[in-house]
Amino acid sequence: MDELDPEERMTRAEVQALQLERLQWTVRHAYDNVQLYHRKLDEAGVSPDDIRTLEDVRRLPFTTKADLRETYPFGMFAVPMAQVRRIHASSGTTGRPTVVGYTDGDLHRWAQLVARSLRAAGVRAGMKVHNAYGYGLFTGGLGLHDGAALLGATVIPVSGGQTARQVQLIRDFEPEVITCTPSYLLTIADAMEQAGIDPRSTSLRIGVLGAEPWTNELRAEIERRMGIDAVDIYGLSEVMGPGVANECVETKDGPHVWEDHFLPETIDGSSGEPVPDGQLGELVFTSLTKEAFPVIRYRTRDLTRLLPGTARPGMRRIQKITGRDDDMIILRGVNLFPTQIEELVLGIEALTPHFVLELTKNGALDAMAVRIERDPALSLQTCIAAAEVLRQRVKAQIGTTIEVRLEEPGTLPRSEGKYKRVYDLR
Ligand code: DLL
Repeated sequence: MDELDPEERMTRAEVQALQLERLQWTVRHAYDNVQLYHRKLDEAGVSPDDIRTLEDVRRLPFTTKADLRETYPFGMFAVPMAQVRRIHASSGTTGRPTVVGYTDGDLHRWAQLVARSLRAAGVRAGMKVHNAYGYGLFTGGLGLHDGAALLGATVIPVSGGQTARQVQLIRDFEPEVITCTPSYLLTIADAMEQAGIDPRSTSLRIGVLGAEPWTNELRAEIERRMGIDAVDIYGLSEVMGPGVANECVETKDGPHVWEDHFLPETIDGSSGEPVPDGQLGELVFTSLTKEAFPVIRYRTRDLTRLLPGTARPGMRRIQKITGRDDDMIILRGVNLFPTQIEELVLGIEALTPHFVLELTKNGALDAMAVRIERDPALSLQTCIAAAEVLRQRVKAQIGTTIEVRLEEPGTLPRSEGKYKRVYDLR
């Protein structure tokens, strides 16, 4: 399995030809088998036969999370339940979870794409993979598990949490690879240090990290602290799970979308109009091979740009995703993303990466505090000075006045999976 899949070697034109054929199949399959798609396409006055070029995808209506909620739990399944071999669900912050299903074929293709993703990250058959993504309805644990197994790796299915035990198992089993969220890897690195283990001294060589936004600054911090390659894996349950797109370790320049299975677009979130490649927009996906749960123009709410392929020239990349439209904080008229603060925090040597954002009301005005743990190895004076530098940089580079509050080491919540960074107390 060291070899690339034949599709990874395709030219752009070959990828596009395959996409068109698969798009036509998907639209027909969704129209014939899912009531909601049938109704939406009829309302939009477009029939599956109207899809003659890839650009025709723009004639199709969008699918949103609201559509999935409306059809809860199984209304968007396009095959009889007897053919659905597995169900996953994402908890969702409000209301009903979104439920997705997979046929045998879907599960196999998913494992192939995760195997491809892991291989792109540098993972090889015979390596041991410590999988600390959560197992269960979340797609992270089982998704990575099946892909690593198909690649020929040895999977250690640890799941999330119980950090001290994670450290013990890494020491005893000597895995080369760890898969978890980037914020959880920081928690693990801290726990190693507390146990007197130098995080650089372990067997780990590669981290395949995703499921939440993170910055190149955090990548650099993780790589420096742990002596590993930190590679970005992207995906979402509605579109499949992990492995929709993955970075190549040799370039680390944003995840390549596996375009033989997904057709990406970027749109202007408010007008719904397409934005050209290279420009920031909301990422939208149409699945091309999914049987149980095809999605047509699913609006991810993730903000990024589509960029030309590099390590896989036939497939486009997405710029590392640093925010979702629903993460955006509007502070006295200034828009900002938590990752912008992460970038600034990690640019200041004397600050730790442990911080949360707290939003409050100060009279009629919104206020934001960065609560950040001080580094116990440094003097209080140094930490106070560093906090002041952060305050000034936020003011100068983001354009808003914030408060920076130093907290005692170990007092802020630690990540065990997707990290909750923002506390809105307004
Ligand atoms: O988080 C799937 C996954 C599992 C991806 C393990 C990678 C590794 P959901 O729970 O449905 O699925 O959440 C999907 O998480 O729309 C993004 O907002 C965010 N996300 C996922 N990967 C990344 C990433 C899984 N690499 C939502 N960078 C997506 C930034 C990411 N955000």
